[in-house]
Amino acid sequence: MPPLKICLLSAEMVPFAKTGGLADVAGALAREFARRGHDVRPFLPLYRAVRGAGWRFAEVPEAAQVPVSLGGIRYEFSLRTAALPGTDVPAYFIDCPAMFDRRSYYTEDADEYRRFLLYTRAVIESCQRLGFAPDVFHCNDWHAALLPLLLRTVYGWDRIFAGSRTVLTIHNIGYQGYMPSTALGDLALGANEALLDPADLARGFVNALKTGIRHADAVTTVSPTYAREIRSAPLGAGLQDALRARPDEVVGILNGVDYTEWDPRVDPYLRAHFDPAHLDGKAANKRALIELAELAIESGVPLIGMVGRLTEQKGIDLLIEALPGFLERGECAFVVLGAGDARYAEFFDAMGRRFPGRFAFHHGYDEARAHAIEAGSDAFLMPSRYEPCGLNQMYSLRYGTIPIVHRTGGLADTVTPFDPATGAGTGCVFNDYDATAVAWALDTTLDWYRDPTAWRRLMRNAMAEDFSWGRQILQYEALFERVAAAGRSNA
Ligand code: ADP
Ligand code: GLC
Repeated sequence: MPPLKICLLSAEMVPFAKTGGLADVAGALAREFARRGHDVRPFLPLYRAVRGAGWRFAEVPEAAQVPVSLGGIRYEFSLRTAALPGTDVPAYFIDCPAMFDRRSYYTEDADEYRRFLLYTRAVIESCQRLGFAPDVFHCNDWHAALLPLLLRTVYGWDRIFAGSRTVLTIHNIGYQGYMPSTALGDLALGANEALLDPADLARGFVNALKTGIRHADAVTTVSPTYAREIRSAPLGAGLQDALRARPDEVVGILNGVDYTEWDPRVDPYLRAHFDPAHLDGKAANKRALIELAELAIESGVPLIGMVGRLTEQKGIDLLIEALPGFLERGECAFVVLGAGDARYAEFFDAMGRRFPGRFAFHHGYDEARAHAIEAGSDAFLMPSRYEPCGLNQMYSLRYGTIPIVHRTGGLADTVTPFDPATGAGTGCVFNDYDATAVAWALDTTLDWYRDPTAWRRLMRNAMAEDFSWGRQILQYEALFERVAAAGRSNA
């Protein structure tokens, strides 16, 4: 097979812009595809924070002041480029201040959907001007999910895309890109409006992710279990019928881990490095974390970490029920890092006030602290209501930090329940999404912790797991090659 030409659309990508795992995965995909010899070109919006972050962007003369009209309003964008650090992959940025010069990457502004519609159109317009004819447009999440339809309709005349095919990857079906009736004018599909979902159309709205599911040549998601879960309610979040109506099934490809960023042998954020044969370093990191979080505990007290976006998805509602009683018993301490919904931040703040020295909450986004928590905690809690893949539990395993997870999505695919009788397994997995189950899981983990032999075994099992991208990328590659081959034979 000749190398693939891949246009990668993602609203986030490390190291440029990140709020969650999408950024890690988009960055890793770009690197891994390039490493395998493919011509991969990622496209991102040029957000205000990215513009001000000191990257050196070059102008792209072929795509300067390009006009794009949405619903009668004329916008203009210019393309910028910078190499993805450590690679020669050209990352491209859509510079359109009217849309992206805002205080955050995502907004609750009324034109949120138009921002990403403009982004999607601008990516296609850029490819035309660069003379770049992708074999595969890889569209990630709702932000890019209108591309498959736009490519076949608004841009259907352009022969440059005759052989191009589209793959949609769903990182989170909970975010769908709901567009009000004014979107129809913005999309300007003309008679092709009939290609939108008829029931939604009758009610006067457009669902970006559903549109992508209906028109992409292939749909993937980020773990095999989540791929099964979203084919029915409730985790399909209303899109289960659209998924089942496709001729092919949604493919679950587990995310990988970038072990150049997340490995206790080399992690620059750590006080001491460690590996399964040298676990003393782990204890040094626990002491460092106790200091950083200003906890008042002895180093023998079990310490449980959490890092994540504070949203309903992450299962914090269960903790509101389960944690106070659990902490009353005074058997362990918690260190939590997260940014997001105010009500969850208030709960964690209140826990910090009620259990000073034993419950530490840091509100915000903090890369260094995330690494310190992975390295210094004994266990890592992810009680997610649903979790398409989840990266933190995989990071935890590598750091010998025992994951405590709800059996859902990628958590179910990456953590195997520990059985003290056989010594097999890597973490604690609870089945029911309720407070009793979380409390059981915390108790069980503390029981294991009190038995140093069992705990050491558990740590070694966890650290021996390997979720590197080397294997996962081959699944993407095989899928993209299959899709591209169909495109080439039609072109
Ligand atoms: P999601 O994408 O749903 O947020 P993942 O587990 O896939 O969940 O990925 C989350 C990523 O974002 C991890 O790399 C995690 O370390 C990082 N992260 C989340 N919240 C924070 C935060 N407040 N500070 C630093 N890193 C964070
Ligand atoms: C989403 C999901 C998370 C997944 C990440 C990367 O943000 O919530 O589970 O790991 O995307 O695919």
